[in-house]
Amino acid sequence: MTAVRSHIEKNKEAYLAELFELLRIPSVSADSRHKGDVRRAAEFVVQKLKDAGADHVELMETAGHPIVFGEKKTDPAWPTVLVYGHYDVQPPDPLDKWTSPPFEPTVRDGKIYARGSCDDKGQFYMHIKALEIMIGKKDVPCNIKFMIEGEEEVGSAHLADFVKANRAKLKADVILISDTAVISLDQPSITAGLRGLSYMEVQVTGPNRDLHSGVYGGAVANPANVLCKMIASLHDNDGRVTIPGFYDDVAVLSEEERAALNKAPFSLEVYKKELGIAEIQGEKGFTTLERTGIRPTLDVNGIWGGYTGEGAKTVLPSTASAKVSMRLVPNQRPEKITELFTRHFQSIAPKTVSVKITAHHGGEAAVTPTDSKAFKAASKAFEEVWGKAPIPTRDGGSIPIVALFKKELGLDTVLMGFGLDTDALHSPNEHYGIRNFLIGIETIVAFHKHFARP
Ligand code: BES
Ligand code: MN
Ligand code: MN
Repeated sequence: MTAVRSHIEKNKEAYLAELFELLRIPSVSADSRHKGDVRRAAEFVVQKLKDAGADHVELMETAGHPIVFGEKKTDPAWPTVLVYGHYDVQPPDPLDKWTSPPFEPTVRDGKIYARGSCDDKGQFYMHIKALEIMIGKKDVPCNIKFMIEGEEEVGSAHLADFVKANRAKLKADVILISDTAVISLDQPSITAGLRGLSYMEVQVTGPNRDLHSGVYGGAVANPANVLCKMIASLHDNDGRVTIPGFYDDVAVLSEEERAALNKAPFSLEVYKKELGIAEIQGEKGFTTLERTGIRPTLDVNGIWGGYTGEGAKTVLPSTASAKVSMRLVPNQRPEKITELFTRHFQSIAPKTVSVKITAHHGGEAAVTPTDSKAFKAASKAFEEVWGKAPIPTRDGGSIPIVALFKKELGLDTVLMGFGLDTDALHSPNEHYGIRNFLIGIETIVAFHKHFARP
């Protein structure tokens, strides 16, 4: 066993106890009632970076939640790695679907169950432990900076301004992020692409008040019915999005690229079984890996209107609403897609209703180079620690700041995530394998070694 591995083995209980302390803080960035908790999580990160031996750590204010900056300087002649992560988490609801409470980390079957265990507290915390190990061994082979934010799950609204105002401070050679997934513990992978996002909210309004559905039903358009029909029309029978121009800018992959993408091990039977579905669906002509990796989509994230309480209330609602997100792929611009959606959705509204459309956050897709020194260092690290070469993959989720870092800092990112697609991110019973957490720390230490001394 290598020295790093046995060190991690010896200290794992302590590492987990610290992570659990962080997981107990309900740092839900979307919920203003948790503003204090979000700050508490930031302060916890500050303290742990200091404890790990970083020589400069700061809690930096923004117009929203604070950003934690930390730095370990070794030698100005050596390369600098900027680690990005987020200490905020998604809201835990629906609460009644959790087997153990979301902010009371519980281990079952070798997995830590808690909101944020994988996304992203458990993942960025591996970097703090990796730093501590390298400092402890007096072997930090590069300069390491940390930028851990508290608004990723709500669109990183203040991060662009922060980056622009702190260019010198953030100067680095590469960005390193653990906030994605590997294929499995038997097959490592490095994410080489993420989708972008355009997130909309629509409200359809009919009569000026809720109406008795017996007195008026059948004679006045029901906004809930209308909304459903409008939304249903956004896909055709081949699973394609019907918004004119939606696919215009989509980057088309070569046959070789598609073949490479489909080489990743994937079992449709296991996939369906794990999700409890009898059949899959999606855009005609594409595989499941392509549908989530390289094709844009449109999905309702929430829909409401009228009576949703206990029992039955006969009512024709005055309004109905929906939250709709579109996952974007390289070359599609979120601003343009937002515009196309808005124009189209207005145009398909019948005269019986009025439509109000608002845009929430968005972000561009990202592809990261697979021939860079940093990507190769990550590959070598996986090979060394996992005993198997990683496969490059495309993940369906979004980390919009990857494109931002490229634009504002000119920096490429390496997406070295250690979660699993089945870790239930944003869902009840989110979890993260203890094995993933521990092997992640070891792989991160190996990355720094290979990146600094190729
Ligand atoms: N860590 C996720 C993104 C992710 C998950 C990437 C799984 C690859 C695999 C991140 O925290 C996230 O949830 N991002 C949001 C977008 C953001 C703008 C709210 C998303 O993808 O919905
Ligand atoms: Mn995340
Ligand atoms: Mn997330």
